Amino acid sequence: ARVAIVISGEGSNMAALLYASRLPTSPYEVVLVASNNPDAPGLALAAAEGVPTWSQSHRGMSREAFDDALHAALAAARPDAVALAGYMRILTPGFVEKWRGRLLNIHPSLLPLYPGLDTHARAIAAGDSSGGCTVHLVTDEVDSGDILGQLAVAIRPGDTPETLAARVRLAEHQLYPSTLGAYVSRHEDAGWIEAQVDALTA
Ligand code: GRF
Repeated sequence: ARVAIVISGEGSNMAALLYASRLPTSPYEVVLVASNNPDAPGLALAAAEGVPTWSQSHRGMSREAFDDALHAALAAARPDAVALAGYMRILTPGFVEKWRGRLLNIHPSLLPLYPGLDTHARAIAAGDSSGGCTVHLVTDEVDSGDILGQLAVAIRPGDTPETLAARVRLAEHQLYPSTLGAYVSRHEDAGWIEAQVDALTA
C-alpha cells in the first residue's frame, strides 16, 4: 500500500513509520511526507531518506484554501492511506470527508480519555496508573474516530508530563507502524484501491 504522512514538527512518528516501511515485511511504502510547516525538522529527514516532500505554510490562507492545497498534494501522490503524525491543525470537514476511512491519527492518550492537548499532565493529575497512545480513524470530531490500536504505558511515581511523554513516544513508535500496517493489509483488496482512485479523481 502507498502511505502519505502529514506532520507539523519533529516527525519522530514519521521516522518510525518510514523506517518500519523499509523492513522487508512491511505492507506499505511511504510515498510523500507533507507539512504545513516548511521548517519542520521531519521534512529534512524525509528528504535525506529520499522520500518526496511537500510543504506550504498555512499562514495567510483560509483553512479551506490550505486544506485544498494539502488535498491536491496528497492526491497527486495517490496514497491508499494518509497518516497524520504530529499534525497540529484541525482539518476541515470537507478534507476529512474526502479521505474518510483512509485517514489515521496518533494521539498520546488512551482515548476516549483525554482528547485534545496536555494529555500527560491530565493523566498524572487524575492519578491514573497508566497513560498511553491510540491510533484512530479521523472524523470531524477531534480525537474521536474508530480506535484501531492502543498501547498502555505505566505512570511511575515522580513522573512529570515530560518523562511520561518520552515513554509514551517510544510506545507510539511501536504502535503506529504496526497498526497502520495491519489496517492497510486488511483493506488492500482491489475494491478499496479502486474506490479511492475514483474518489481522488472525482
Ligand atoms: C506525538 O506525541 C503524537 O501523539 C502527537 O504529537 C506528537 C508528535 O510527535 N499527536 P512527533 O512529531 O511524531 O515526534
